Amino acid sequence: MAHQPSPQRYDNPALYRRCGRSGLKLPLLSLGLWHNFGDTEVYQNCRALVLKAFDLGITHFDLANNYGPPPGAAERNFGRILAADLREFRDELIISTKAGYDMWPGPYGDWGSRKYLLASLDQSLKRLGLEYVDIFYHHRFDPNTPLEETMGALDHAVRSGKALYAGISNYGPEQTARAAEILRKLGTPLLIHQPKYHMFDRTVENGLLDVLSREGVGCIPFCPLAQGLLTGRYLNGIPADSRAAHDPRFLKPEHITEEKVGKIRRLNELAQARGQSLAQLALAWVLRQPAVTTALIGASKVSQLEENLQVVRNLGLSPDEVATIDRILAS
Ligand SMILES: NC(=O)c1ccc[n+]([C@@H]2O[C@H](COP(=O)([O-])OP(=O)(O)OC[C@H]3O[C@@H](n4cnc5c(N)ncnc54)[C@H](OP(=O)(O)O)[C@@H]3O)[C@@H](O)[C@H]2O)c1
Repeated sequence: MAHQPSPQRYDNPALYRRCGRSGLKLPLLSLGLWHNFGDTEVYQNCRALVLKAFDLGITHFDLANNYGPPPGAAERNFGRILAADLREFRDELIISTKAGYDMWPGPYGDWGSRKYLLASLDQSLKRLGLEYVDIFYHHRFDPNTPLEETMGALDHAVRSGKALYAGISNYGPEQTARAAEILRKLGTPLLIHQPKYHMFDRTVENGLLDVLSREGVGCIPFCPLAQGLLTGRYLNGIPADSRAAHDPRFLKPEHITEEKVGKIRRLNELAQARGQSLAQLALAWVLRQPAVTTALIGASKVSQLEENLQVVRNLGLSPDEVATIDRILAS
């Protein structure tokens, strides 16, 4: 039977923040399907994660053409959940996808040409079973394609009705400012930027967040939990069901050094002193930035979603707490 969503899912209006200077609001936490939604996963767990997220008021689901494994599988599996359970709630959902990394063989399945982006969007829509996505991103800056061509493709995607908004990901501050200017001239404002941001990677603080604030572009940081490092997951070794153990494509056991775990333990103590979990502290820390609209998390278990969303109960960080975190990270 199709899922009946919780009638209480919108009971907390404070859960939504405006995305830059646009008319669109996004939930404080968004769910990404990079991991845990490939064909190697149990479909019922994928379905439970998406439906629980929706029940909790998480309206935004983030995909890319290459999420799997194999590439394309996450879009297909999400499309199946949509068709079975959420079809009638399409207008309550913000669904994004991207193109920019290696997707199919030959010169037209990678980077930033108009040829690649528009073909990839059509393929994504087919896999998702949708007529349009809400946000279409260029996934990474392409140094060998004129930015006018790449942004022209995003503008076309929006004008053709296959996407409602345009986004970019992994662009530097200068590249972002140029992209925003080109899109503005084309009449399709840049809605949002998706950069990596967590306590162990603060690159965005060196200019990008300022550009986004100035341009009125929203920001959806990915991996705010450093793929699970900034949670209780690895405090006592590497559990068998963790990402580092069962899907170490990007988070490798050798990344979990004694030095890192030492910092994680001290951050965990600070979180406990605030009466919250380390995951909640890591999310509050990313969300403290006025430029940040929503934190883009992943999850392998429904209980993680429930825990993480409780961050709304304790979002504020004092200057002393921020300074303590800086000291722990610099130690
Ligand atoms: N644009 C880009 O280039 C790019 C790149 C990477 C990611 N992304 C986007 O960002 C999304 C999130 O990335 P991510 O999954 O790495 O984010 P993350 O939130 O940093 O890490 C998620 C992982 O942390 C663990 N976790 C989450 N909550 C937990 C909790 N309360 N307690 C213990 N462990 C917890 C889970 O790992 P376990 O499996 O160990 O349970 C979960 O899969 C992706 O799905 C994708 O949409 C975009």
